[in-house]
Order: sequence, then C-alpha cells, then structure tokens
Amino acid sequence: FGTCFTKKKSLSLSKKLLVLTVATEETDGFIRFMQTANYFNYTVKVLGMGETWKGGEVGRSIGGGQKVRLLKEAMESLGDQEDLVVLFVDSYDLIFAGGPEEILRKFQQANHKVLFAAEGLIWPDKRLADKYPLVRSGKRYLNSGGIIGYAPYVNRIVSQWDLHDNDDDQLFYTKIYLDLSKRESLNMTLDHKCQIFQNLNGAIDEVLLKFGTDRVRVRNTAYNSLPVVVHGNGNTKEYPDVLVGVFIEQPTPFLPEFFKQLLTLDYPKDKLKLFVHNNEVYHEKHIQRFWEENRDVFKSFKVVGPEENLSQGEARNMGMDLCRKDATCDYYFSLDSDVMLTNRQTLKLLIEQNRKIIGPLVTRHGKLWSNFWGALSLDGYYARSEDYVDIVQRKRVGLWNIPFMAHIYLIKGTVLRNELKERNHFVLEKLDPDMALCRNAREMGVFMYITNRHEFGRLISTANYNISRYNNDLWQIFENPVDWKEKYIHPNYTRIFTENQLEEPCPDVFWFPVLSVKACDEIVEEMEHYGVWSGGKHEDKRIAGGYETVPTDDIHMKQIGFDKEWLHFLREYISPVTLKVFSGYYTKGYALMNFVVKYTPHRQAFLRPHHDSSTFTINIALNNKDTDFQGGGCRFHRYNCSIESPRKGWSFMHPGRLTHLHEGLPTTNGTRYIAVSFVDP
Ligand SMILES: *[C@@H]1O[C@H](CO)[C@@H](O)[C@H](O)[C@H]1NC(C)=O
Ligand SMILES: *[C@@H]1O[C@H](CO)[C@@H](O)[C@H](O)[C@H]1NC(C)=O
Ligand SMILES: *[C@@H]1O[C@H](CO)[C@@H](O)[C@H](O)[C@H]1NC(C)=O
Ligand SMILES: *[C@@H]1O[C@H](CO)[C@@H](O)[C@H](O)[C@H]1NC(C)=O
Ligand SMILES: *[C@@H]1O[C@H](CO)[C@@H](O)[C@H](O)[C@H]1NC(C)=O
Ligand SMILES: *[C@@H]1O[C@H](CO)[C@@H](O)[C@H](O)[C@H]1NC(C)=O
Ligand SMILES: *[C@@H]1O[C@H](CO)[C@@H](O)[C@H](O)[C@H]1NC(C)=O
Repeated sequence: FGTCFTKKKSLSLSKKLLVLTVATEETDGFIRFMQTANYFNYTVKVLGMGETWKGGEVGRSIGGGQKVRLLKEAMESLGDQEDLVVLFVDSYDLIFAGGPEEILRKFQQANHKVLFAAEGLIWPDKRLADKYPLVRSGKRYLNSGGIIGYAPYVNRIVSQWDLHDNDDDQLFYTKIYLDLSKRESLNMTLDHKCQIFQNLNGAIDEVLLKFGTDRVRVRNTAYNSLPVVVHGNGNTKEYPDVLVGVFIEQPTPFLPEFFKQLLTLDYPKDKLKLFVHNNEVYHEKHIQRFWEENRDVFKSFKVVGPEENLSQGEARNMGMDLCRKDATCDYYFSLDSDVMLTNRQTLKLLIEQNRKIIGPLVTRHGKLWSNFWGALSLDGYYARSEDYVDIVQRKRVGLWNIPFMAHIYLIKGTVLRNELKERNHFVLEKLDPDMALCRNAREMGVFMYITNRHEFGRLISTANYNISRYNNDLWQIFENPVDWKEKYIHPNYTRIFTENQLEEPCPDVFWFPVLSVKACDEIVEEMEHYGVWSGGKHEDKRIAGGYETVPTDDIHMKQIGFDKEWLHFLREYISPVTLKVFSGYYTKGYALMNFVVKYTPHRQAFLRPHHDSSTFTINIALNNKDTDFQGGGCRFHRYNCSIESPRKGWSFMHPGRLTHLHEGLPTTNGTRYIAVSFVDP
C-alpha cells in the first residue's frame, strides 16, 4: 500500500497545473472565483481582461467563440510543455471546492489526455445527439465550461479554431469530439460522472451539500462523487444565511437550557438571524437575560413579546415572512421552545439534505409521541402509518416523505419566494397553525421530509407546568425526567458507578457528587423565598409529638410543597448509591424528615453531638466554604474524624444511629446551607 500511494502522490506532484480563465471585467462572480482559487493556492492566468466582450450574451445563447480565440493565443505562447496540465474554466459563475492536487489525481485516474465537462442536456444542436457515443451510466453530452488536459493536446484542439468571436465554442468542441478519429488521436473523453466538474444547472436534485471544515461541498449522489469545479449558483461558497424563528407559545420548562442549546449549534452565528416570538410574560426574564448576553452574537436579533398580542398563526407568518422578504435569506429554520436539540450538527445535517422542507425527528422521551405524522385520516387528521413506530424508535432510519410535521423544520428561502409565496400559510379555516402550513405545502405539491438518520433531540412536555413557584423547573422531575437530570444532577454523578468516584473520609461515611450547582442554588433560593425558618426551637408543630430534641434552624421540603419530588429524587439518585456502599442493604428510599438547615453565627451556628432517627442520613452541602461561609463541617466522635471542607453539591451518607454520633461544627461567618434526609427511619 505504502509504495503504491507514494508513487501516485509523487506523480501528481511532478506535474504542474495552470488554470486559465476568461474574464473581460471584474464582476462579483469573477471576484468570488478568484477568492476560491486563491484559497486553494491555484495558479491562475486570466485572459482577456479589459477586452470588449464580443462572445455573445452571457448565459445560454450561442456564442463564446472569443474564449476559444483567447485560449488559442494563450496555448501558442505556452508552447508544448509535456508535463503541464491546463484547466480551462469559466469564471463568472464557478467556484473551486477542492485543491489542485485533488484535480490532478482525478485527472490522472481518468486516463485520457483531455477531459471535458459533461451534462445531461445537449446544446446547442440537438440533432447531434445520435452521433454521441453511448454511455452506460453518467452524463452523455459535452459541456465546454470545463476542460482539463495536457498542454500539447489542448493546443492541438484549439489551434483548429478559425471562426469568429461570436461563434459557438461548445459547438466547435462538440464537432471535434464527435469525430471518431480526432477523438481517438487527441485521446479525449468526458467527465461523465462528475468526478471533477459539476454543473448545478438542471442537476440540483442529484446533489447534496456537505459541510467541510469551513466550507460547503457538493456531493453528487447519483455518481457518489465530490466534484472539484462547481458551475452554477448553488450554495457552495460558504455557509448559507439562516433565519431562525423561535416560538414560545406556552410556559415551557427548561427555557434557559433551550437557549443554551441554540447557542451551541455548530454553525457560524454571524450567518444566523434570530426572530423570537414570546407569548408568555413569565418568560420575559429568560429572554431578557439571553438577549443581554447574546444580542451581538447573531447577525440580527428581533423579539416580539406578549404585549403585541399576536396569535400563534400571526407570529409564525411574521417569522416566515422575514425570511421570504429578505433575498439573502437562504433558509428559514422554525424552532419551537419545547424542542430540546441535543445534536449540535442539526442545522448542517438538515441543510446537507438539500430538500425544500425538512425536519429532524424529535420524540418525547420514552414515548411514541413525535413531531410528525406518518399518514393522514380522510378528514386530514392523524392516522398511524404502518412504519410510524419503527421510524420513531429508529428501527428504520432514513429520509421520509410525510404529510405532517411540526415543532422544528427547515424551509428553503427560494421555496418561500416561489411555491409558498402566499403570506398567510399558518392561518387557514379553524386549523391549528402547523396543520394549516402542512396542508398548504401539500396542496402546492411541496414534499415535506423528516430525517431520523441521526439522533437530534427530544420534545419537552409542557403539560402540568406550574409557574407559580420561584424556580419552577425543580418540580419537573416527574414530567421531564431527562431534562431534570441534566439540569439538576451533578455532571459527575454517573462516575460514582463507572469510575468509583466516591470517597470515604471517615469510616462508613461516604462522600459523592449528586446535585449540580444549579440545583443547590435554586433549592437555597426557594427556601429563602419561602423565608419561614423554624428558629431552632425544641417545640416543633411540624413533627409528630411536637418536640425536637436536637433542633436545627430549618425549613422542611414539605413546607414548600417539594416533598414528593424530593422523595423521588432519593429513590432515583440516592438509593443506587446506597446499594453500592452498604452492600446487601436494600433501602425503601423513604424519609419523613427532609429539610434544609441554615447555619449562621447570629442564629444557629452549630449542632451539638447527636444521633439521627434514620437507618442512614444524607447531608448535601448547598454552598461553598470560604466563599459563602467560614467554619462549618461535620465531626464523627467514635472515630475522632472531622470533615471540614464540604464540597457544594456533594453528599455525605452515613449510618444514623449508634456508631455515628456526630455534630455540626460552628459556622463562624456567612451562612451555610445543607439539605438533610433521614432515610428509612
Ligand atoms: C495555501 O498556501 C499557504 C501558504 O503556503 C498555506 O498556508 C495554505 O494552507 C494553503 N492552502 C491550502 C488550502 O492548501
Ligand atoms: C489515452 O491515453 C492514455 C495515457 O494517457 C492511454 O493509456 C490510453 O490508452 C489512451 N486511450 C486512447 C483511446 O488512446
Ligand atoms: C388580544 O387578542 C385577542 C384576540 O385576538 C382579543 O380578544 C384580546 O382582547 C386582545 N387583548 C389585548 C390586551 O389587546
Ligand atoms: C401550583 O403551585 C401552587 C403552589 O405554588 C399550588 O398552590 C397550586 O395548587 C399548583 N397548581 C396546580 C395546578 O397544581
Ligand atoms: C468531574 O470529575 C473530573 C475528574 O475527576 C474533574 O476533573 C472535573 O472537574 C469534575 N467536574 C465537576 C463539575 O466537578
Ligand atoms: C483526635 O485527633 C486529633 C488530630 O486529628 C488529635 O489531636 C486528638 O488528640 C485526637 N483525640 C482523641 C481523643 O484521640
Ligand atoms: C465574613 O464574610 C464577609 C463576606 O461574606 C467578608 O467580607 C468578611 O471579611 C468575613 N469575615 C471574616 C472574619 O472572615
């Protein structure tokens, strides 16, 4: 392998490639061509600059003879250099997608002296069709927009030119190619399968866009090739401009996390314009924060708030119309706030599919609920298709043509300006706005697709979202367990099980990460918001018997209505740790006493030695020693062992009775908070 590879490489390196092009003026297209040529370090010689163009109209009228005349003159002056390969291309509507080495390698693989671009349509003389050699697969006809060949052979072709500047260049080359003896002696062929040349005109359906490190490439899916010279005005230069429409139509859990995911999308932010419709006063604070931190990140940032009193349909029309009216808007990406995108590549992956309307599959965690319908009932509502479940569960993967989609989709700007140029797609009879859009698309014959080729993200449940608390997402442990875990469980929690990230600072006292910083902060905020601390008195109406022997200054989880959620947390996240460290002990995961304690020098600073009425106790530090308070910690008498530097979000777990007489060490300054549960009393 090694030698073979080196040999090939050195062969192509030993050749020189010279790009020749004709441009009589420096149009924008020419400047773009030169930018891509310079990017890949091509050597380019421009012919005819400053001359008057006499080659006929640009575009598809007959003409172009001037180009052949200029090439003929250039080839004469180059002489017959055997090892020089010349690439002759148009420049006004063409770009390079790869470098000289790739072209030389592909040219060598073609094993001919001269190679012309090919196309599926014959031009300019249809009567010549029969004279063309048959091809088993690939494009049959010659296109003069791209020629690559050894200098002496190209010279022999163009030296035959004796016509006028406004005669047709393509016809000239075609006649030589169709002459069997010339074709053989000049060793000419066509790039039938677009290994080098891709003409986008009339071939847009056979290409996909493919993102490289910093630019987009075209992949020809018909021949599975990655052409290097791309002709036509496709989105091949750089990243397309996308307008992102964000719709917050109801109170939505985890909205700050939704915005965070939007920011982490792998796409240049200066190519994104943002339009946000927010229908909820409750979310104004979240949007305000996001706007303040990121308003300069995007190309533009527009928010329409609840005071505008727009219906959902009107808001969606407005977002779509912003893209429609802006000729530089290549795509419209509509995203509802209940979509938690986890795949940073989503936007690129959708653009690459090159469809008019496409959405990624997103599903409700553990449910069959998704953002598309596989079929419609006769009256236009949901009907289950035989493959629906397999698609949702990704047992079958691919790109699916479907009749209805919602929540997240990408539409081409050109489609909005053509097939969907009507402005009010979201308002139709009494239909829900998404149903209205999909019905309009179906009626206009625009196919909608959904892809499940990758995992993209999930749908958040917005049902049962009570926004009357202070930090409402804390209560979402039942409704949206995955998002709750991501937000509130310590990022290293799973390492307890995979990497044994668990310490034993004193005998039978285990110490492990469990709550995230956010969870700690929000629990403290929630308690301070409630504000009714017990004062550390012995009389306590909250407990059975009304008397507490070792009272703390605390608030019970039950008092803030968080007891069911907290017990669920104990069962989901504490019980597995118990099983690991107290092997053979199966906890019921039940606790009557769940509370947050506040230690501060002015109120209660410490807790005298005591036992707990529990089989085991957990004690989670909710803030940081040194920054939030000084002193504090915990001491276990039997072992003469103290832990003086608790870590925020980490929990202690120790037996409650007999062996583990313990005390809370004095907090000397600031305020220390801990969350405590007496498990299995
Ligand atoms: C072009 O040449 C420069 C300087 O030699 C080099 O840094 C750069 O990587 C080259 N570009 C490409 C695309 O190879
Ligand atoms: C064309 O040239 C290549 C070498 O460049 C040679 O291998 C091949 O046989 C030639 N084909 C014809 C039809 O002459
Ligand atoms: C908002 O719009 C609805 C219906 O479009 C209307 O009934 C309501 O009065 C409007 N509210 C305000 C404050 O303008
Ligand atoms: C929402 O939470 C409040 C407590 O903050 C409670 O009083 C109310 O009943 C809850 N609403 C629902 C629908 O559960
Ligand atoms: C998680 O554990 C790793 C390895 O011990 C550590 O480097 C990292 O800082 C921890 N992350 C957090 C958030 O504590
Ligand atoms: C407890 O340990 C400390 C050092 O950590 C030591 O100074 C002290 O004497 C020990 N007390 C007892 C009773 O062993
Ligand atoms: C107590 O904490 C405050 C801030 O929390 C700090 O300014 C002060 O210096 C601390 N005092 C001592 C004695 O550490």
